[in-house]
Amino acid sequence: MHNDVTATGHAARIATVDALLPAPLPFEVHDDATLLSAQVGDTTAAGLATSTELGPDSSQSIWRALTEHRLEVQLAGPDPAAGLDALLTRWDEHLSTIARPGDPECSAVVSRPSRDTAGVTEMLRHGFAPVGVIAVRPAQRMAASGPTTTPGVCIRHATPDDLETAVHLMLELQRYDAQFGRVTVRPGIDELVGKELLRLLERPEPQVWIAELYGQALGLAVLQMPDETAWIQHRVAASRIGYLSSLAVAEAARSAGVGTALAAHAHQVFDEAGADVVLLHTAVLNPRSTPFWYAQGYRPLWTGWQRRPAVR
Ligand SMILES: CC(C)(COP(=O)(O)OP(=O)(O)OC[C@H]1O[C@@H](n2cnc3c(N)ncnc32)[C@H](O)[C@@H]1OP(=O)(O)O)[C@@H](O)C(=O)NCCC(=O)NCCS
Repeated sequence: MHNDVTATGHAARIATVDALLPAPLPFEVHDDATLLSAQVGDTTAAGLATSTELGPDSSQSIWRALTEHRLEVQLAGPDPAAGLDALLTRWDEHLSTIARPGDPECSAVVSRPSRDTAGVTEMLRHGFAPVGVIAVRPAQRMAASGPTTTPGVCIRHATPDDLETAVHLMLELQRYDAQFGRVTVRPGIDELVGKELLRLLERPEPQVWIAELYGQALGLAVLQMPDETAWIQHRVAASRIGYLSSLAVAEAARSAGVGTALAAHAHQVFDEAGADVVLLHTAVLNPRSTPFWYAQGYRPLWTGWQRRPAVR
């Protein structure tokens, strides 16, 4: 069976699933990747298995397990769910030779187009949970009418003087999000978050925004403009991409329109920069962020499935 044949069939299938998905390319098998394949009747499946490790002092480590095993999936033919089932069985055999059993710092991760629903049951049967979503909002999308913003809330650029407040809000966000499977709070997170925010705040025009009421900071939004988002370009069929890195509202001020005001401001900034779409990551099980973002005009584009530990 040919990887190219599966890639062509997969691309044809995906083209009908979601107009905002980029056309998938055949896998390029580099040195530290393993190509897996499976066949069930006329159905073929290909998977590119990779593993990456981060130290706890890496700023990216907040968002994941320190060791992450990933599988990119391509499915072609009449029964993609059966193809995925067989491919996951192959990957499980592979993982059992390389992953540390029972280690919560070792995860198995599969990103799948959210609207390519074939194989969802099989993912669940293999012990994966849908943990994260990359959500997309096309420019000019209307949001549902939200709450009336608390009078007096003003949104301004953050400055280096806001570092302490920004760190406080960001840590509140990370601790809340850590309940939902992906974000991992480890000792030293305060310094990591502080270092990253200081780096952003020291830029000439930091894309860090503060919502304040009568001089008291209640909320924070961090944006990445289209010239900084090449890292996520492969996830969406758009050329100018805005990325909303973080939005946090102090616990005492939630449900009062502060988040809506910050999101509206962020969308205005992205519109002015000519972004075609805005992307963000959100935790599926976060009962605040999931409904909030969907009311702001976002919808799921990619679903991040995770099994953690990767091997029990
Ligand atoms: C998610 C979060 C940023 C939203 O900010 P927020 O200031 O609480 O949101 P808002 O008040 O602007 O909007 C939500 C409120 O709008 C109101 N609302 C929603 N739709 C509405 C509508 N159509 N008409 C009128 N009011 C509406 C509701 O009162 C809702 O509050 P409720 O869910 O408690 O009932 C905030 O809850 C938060 O910081 N959560 C923890 C951290 C987090 O999850 N961040 C996101 C990570 S991706």
